[in-house]
Amino acid sequence: MKIVFATGNKGKLREAADLLGPDYEVVSMEEVGIVEDIEETGETLRENSIIKAEYVYEKTGLNCFADDTGLMVDCLDGAPGVHSARYATEGHDFNANIDKLLSEMEKHPGEPRTAHFSSVVTLIWNGEKHFFEGTFNGRIAERRAGNGGFGYDPVFIADACPDHSVAELPISFKNEHSHRAKALKAMAEWIRKQDR
Ligand code: IMP
Repeated sequence: MKIVFATGNKGKLREAADLLGPDYEVVSMEEVGIVEDIEETGETLRENSIIKAEYVYEKTGLNCFADDTGLMVDCLDGAPGVHSARYATEGHDFNANIDKLLSEMEKHPGEPRTAHFSSVVTLIWNGEKHFFEGTFNGRIAERRAGNGGFGYDPVFIADACPDHSVAELPISFKNEHSHRAKALKAMAEWIRKQDR
């Protein structure tokens, strides 16, 4: 069965296809003819994931899902949160985002550096919406380490492996523990139950 993931990110597509297994064909937006960017104008992760899933459903009528993720840092009152992708600039510049995060945190010396990623997945299945969430707990390092992963990974230290940044760990670690993996696993389990 075909199911559209409202993303163009190949890593995310592969992750979702692995979790859903061979009975499902997970395809990208591009593969169903959607090449334009969908504007994420929501004020919450849930709103943004709904906007993306609804856009794809309205265009294709196919079962589909979308995710939205934010990094919430406690001493910054939950920032960058829903603005994580565009924290420093409009241009999804990961390096500039990390620079801004570290410099904002310098204004809070001695405060806990705890943080978490949160992902919300909206699935539209036979026209009905369903939501799945996952979190990944950790803290923000004082400086970057590692070349793997993407986004804030070089400064994110997961509670599940506190001696390394996530960018220093193998992809298998994230596939097991990350916010998005947990939300996608919950969705995959739910979908498999419907088809039983
Ligand atoms: P998106 O909703 O998956 O596009 O995520 C929004 C932003 O959060 C991204 O641009 C990244 O900066 C950040 N982000 C999302 N997932 C991760 C992750 O697994 N590691 C590090 N940063 C992430």
